[in-house]
Formats: sequence, C-alpha cells, structure tokens
Amino acid sequence: MTVGFPEGFIWGAATAAHQVEGGNSNSDAWVLEHAVPSIFREPSGDAIDHWNRFEDDVALLAALGLRAYRFSIEWARIEPREGVFSRAAIDHYQRCINACLERGVQPIPTFHHFTAPIWVARDGGLTSAKFPERFARYCEKVARELSGFQYACTINELNLPLFMREKLVAAVNGDLKAAAEAALGSSLDSFFLFSPREAILKQGLKAHALARDAIKAQHPNCQVGATLSIQDEQAESGAEAFRDERNAQFYDECLDALKNDDFIGVQTYTRLIARKDGSATGAEGAPRTMIGWEDYPQALANTCRYVFERTGAPIVITENGWAGLDDTRRSEFIREALQGVHHAIQDGVDVRGYLYWTLFDNYEWMSGYEPKFGLIGVDRNTQARKIKPSALVLGDIAQNNSLVAPDIVPTPTRNFSPDQESSPVGIG
Ligand code: BGC
Repeated sequence: MTVGFPEGFIWGAATAAHQVEGGNSNSDAWVLEHAVPSIFREPSGDAIDHWNRFEDDVALLAALGLRAYRFSIEWARIEPREGVFSRAAIDHYQRCINACLERGVQPIPTFHHFTAPIWVARDGGLTSAKFPERFARYCEKVARELSGFQYACTINELNLPLFMREKLVAAVNGDLKAAAEAALGSSLDSFFLFSPREAILKQGLKAHALARDAIKAQHPNCQVGATLSIQDEQAESGAEAFRDERNAQFYDECLDALKNDDFIGVQTYTRLIARKDGSATGAEGAPRTMIGWEDYPQALANTCRYVFERTGAPIVITENGWAGLDDTRRSEFIREALQGVHHAIQDGVDVRGYLYWTLFDNYEWMSGYEPKFGLIGVDRNTQARKIKPSALVLGDIAQNNSLVAPDIVPTPTRNFSPDQESSPVGIG
C-alpha cells in the first residue's frame, strides 16, 4: 500500500555545526574535548570538514531528492569574544543558505545546538542571568545579517538537560570533573548539557522567547520554534503514575511554554518504559541500536501525538534516526517510523515535515566518531563521502511525497504491559 503525505510536506536531513564543521576551537565543547582526562572519548578535530565542503555536501543532499537541510549556526564562530562579531563567519553562513537555495533546498538554521563560545561558558552559561540577553543579541545580529530562510530553530533540545544532567553528573566525578572544570574555567553546570533544571526553565525558556522575537522582528514570515528531545514514555502496568511524573518533569513545562510558537521541533529516538521498580528503560531483550537505545521506530508517531494533544501546535520532526552499521535496517526504521507518522497525520496530528538525523556519520559528542547515524558515510582519512542505500530510500520517499508502507502496522499507544512485548505489530 502506498501512503501519501500532505502537499508541501518538508523532507530533509539535519546536522549540527560542532558535529560536522571541524575546528570549532572557540567553543566550550572544544576545550572540554582537550581536557586531560576528558569526558569526551576523542576530540572533534576536523570533524568531517563540512565548513569547507558545505557546498558539495548540500549538492549531495539535493541530488538525493531531499528538499530541506537543517544545519546549525555556530555562536562560537559568530561571536568568538563578547560583542565582537566575525564578518567572515556571518558571510560563510549566508553562503551556506545560498548553496541551499540555488539547489531548491529549504535552509533551516538552528541558532544553538549544545555549544556556546568559551566566554559564555566561563561566565556561567545558562546559569547566568545574562544568558537570555546575550543569546538574543547574537540571534538578532545573525537574523539582521542573514536572509533566505523561512524556518528557524532557536535552541536545540532545550529540555534535554532536564533528564540528562543527573546521569552526567553521576558519571563525571573526581579527576574527570576537575579537569573539565579547569579547562572550562568554570563549573561544569555552565556547559549546556549539564545545565541545572532552574537554568533551563528560567534562562533557557527566556532565551528562546527573546531569540524567537528577535528573529521574527527581522523575518516576520519566518516560522520560528525550539526543538525538544521527546522520547516515547510508556509504562508497565502499575507504573502509569511514574510515567506521568516523567512526562511532567521532562517535557510538559517546556511544551506548555512553547505551545503558541509557530511550531515545535520534535526529536525522538526511542521509547522508555516506566517500571514499578523506579527504572525506565527499553523493552528487555529487544534489539538495540549502536548507541544502546531500543530499536523502536513506533516511538515517533507516539511522541507526535503526545505533543499535539498537549499543545495543538504544528510539529516539525527536526530529528529522528537510527545508529548502526546495518543500513538495510536503517531504511526499514525510517519507513516504519514514517508509516506511524502518516497514521498520526490521518488522525489529525499537524506534522509539517521530517528531517532525518543525520545527513552524515559525524561526531557523536562524548561517544566520539563511533556511532553511525548517517545517510552518508565519511572516510575521515580522505573525507570522501559515500552514499548509503538508506539515503536513496529517504530521497525516493521525498521525491514521491509518499512511501510504500511496510507490513508492520504500528498501533499508537503510550501504555505498555510486558505480556505484549513479543507482539510483532508493535505494542498496544
Ligand atoms: C542531538 C544530536 C545527537 C543525536 C544523537 C540529539 O540529542 O540533537 O546532536 O547527535 O541526538 O545522539
């Protein structure tokens, strides 16, 4: 069965500056990567040299049939010292936008994707009361200088530290913590991923709102939103209250604050099952991706439904992807995830686009270069790009604005009971 998507549906792929550009040496992540010992498995170095290869890389994306490219603008390059803006960096990003437009690709810039200039981190990052105005000033400058984009994201996964910080803090102690803080010249709390809850809910949300207004002041017709990391929170029987608490803690405050924006960026990778013992993990024994998350493509439609039910806001899926070496499985994952999204759209959920994470195998933050999410592989010795079959699969879907549905029909659910675990048609 062929299932079609709404006219004008946005099809594309995403990257983030620090993970692909290379040489982002004025950023907080860069100094943390070079601490000894480091919380990063290896430094980003040249990454995949996207800074110099942007034009060819966009040409590849366009040749696949994809029509949108979400990339990020690096604050550390634009404003390497407080109040000092780099003309060269601004011009670079205009060339990036032009490279997209010349090839019929919609550019979707993100203004903050985890990294910040070192001076911002030295002064507390999001924990500083000055952060919102600083971030908005940079966004205002960039928005005033750059033209040619109709969608923009302010902060990537604004809510991520709400559930990641605790695990990170537990893992980073002793010498690791001391070296990181010495390199950063401040507490680790000032690196975005470690931001305390109050910093996200106060400075983070305010920074987003000021940035959104600054961008829209320059580009009144531009659709501006933040993106959120939203996993499919399910519950084994008896743990529903715990699941609801997780939703409240990790997502709901941000969703409520963002519900009047032009769109909400949904970024989903897996599901987590709340259990009576107080843990929340993927299904036991289920296949995992290379990064350890349960391989569960149905999660995406469930999170879109959740976000739409809570906010009524239009959704752009700004990230969804599969990490591993089995590219056939990657193609299936994409098709299964999209089939669920199609069902959700038929049920009235307003999803406007799908941007796969990620266009290239890239620098996966603390895990270094090992995890492979990309539609395109990269030989980091030669920087040669190699298109994987999954890239052609997504390109075909984009060109046809439809896909041939896989046999598995995922049933939407946010509940889980262990005896359903072996069901071949998803849980529900
Ligand atoms: C981030 C990406 C990251 C991806 C896979 C998302 O949390 O936005 O930067 O590479 O997940 O881990």
